[in-house]
Amino acid sequence: MSRYATWHQRLVRIAEMGRTRALRTIAPTGPTTGRLEGRDVIIACSNDYLGLAWHPDVRAAATGAGSGGSRLISGSRPTHEQLEHALEDWLGRPALLFPSGYQANLAVFSTVCTADQSVASDAANHASIIDGLRLGRAQRTVVPHADAAAIPADTQLIVTEGLFSMDGDLPPLTDYPSGPWLAVDEAHAIGCLGPGGRGAAAAAGVTPDIRIGTFGKAFGASGAFVEGPPELKQLLVNAGRSFIFTTAPPEPVAAMALAGLRAATDELRERLMSNAHTLRVGLGQLGWPVLGDAHILPVVVGDRALDLSEQLLSRGVFAPAIRYPTVPVGTERIRLTASAAHTSTQLDRILDAFGPHH
Ligand SMILES: Cc1ncc(COP(=O)(O)O)c(C=O)c1O
Repeated sequence: MSRYATWHQRLVRIAEMGRTRALRTIAPTGPTTGRLEGRDVIIACSNDYLGLAWHPDVRAAATGAGSGGSRLISGSRPTHEQLEHALEDWLGRPALLFPSGYQANLAVFSTVCTADQSVASDAANHASIIDGLRLGRAQRTVVPHADAAAIPADTQLIVTEGLFSMDGDLPPLTDYPSGPWLAVDEAHAIGCLGPGGRGAAAAAGVTPDIRIGTFGKAFGASGAFVEGPPELKQLLVNAGRSFIFTTAPPEPVAAMALAGLRAATDELRERLMSNAHTLRVGLGQLGWPVLGDAHILPVVVGDRALDLSEQLLSRGVFAPAIRYPTVPVGTERIRLTASAAHTSTQLDRILDAFGPHH
């Protein structure tokens, strides 16, 4: 028997369920275009919402060196502090950088609650929130999606996304009870929604106790931050294991994030919203069911999602199917995303690739 037979058997079982995932390499040729398997495609699934991954300032900022260690050992650099100060100036409270949003959520949700406290987590929350809560010892209640009335009375912390990554909708932030702490993962909203791009909570006039933002989406770089009261930053520096025991973001990445933060303008945000509106109206006219409120446009087609994504690809549009376990069985979808960098010709081509819904 092969040394890896049990791994092989698990892969066979995944394949039998029709759930094999495979990597597809796309060589970008511009903010919204690339070459995929010998074909020129329009990218309609990227989180580079403002097109900043290709902004000249962001690309030119990528200088400096690898950080060589954890921030607490040898890796804390002036670039990290500069970026944290820029975030504090922008959002108002101390911020702490992380190499990724996944690690930020692991640190926050495994750390802020103790075993005698209870957490209410939205059913559609991202895997990194779920994993962080699992690593911590707090009592967890998964509440129905976007249902403020379902928050249990003894909740100490409410956790939600600012703009849900797979459903594209907004949480009922102003309806949540004000007693518990509120944590909002603004991964898909920061830079895009709210005054000056400060996110969905800012748009709703709510200051969350814990705000998580990422640099890998609207800001065109990579990495993440947690922002909140000074005690939060200190707690994460002292007890957040995915902050303490990991190499600090490389200087070029932190510098790209800072450049992305500076390059995100209201003009780009307006273009993003206008492009999202064009796609939403166009898909509606073609008869496609589209979820969401903003620049994420999930087209839920169930088990037809894979076929639809292949149809789109054959027509030059790259938007893969999102399947279980990322979304519940029966709600498989094409997660279409608008970008400020899409041209009106590209938007037309995306809509043409969908064609009328039968
Ligand atoms: C809501 C949400 N939080 C966190 C993350 C993780 O962020 P990162 O890609 O920086 O690890 C993602 C997706 O990537 C996300 O969709």
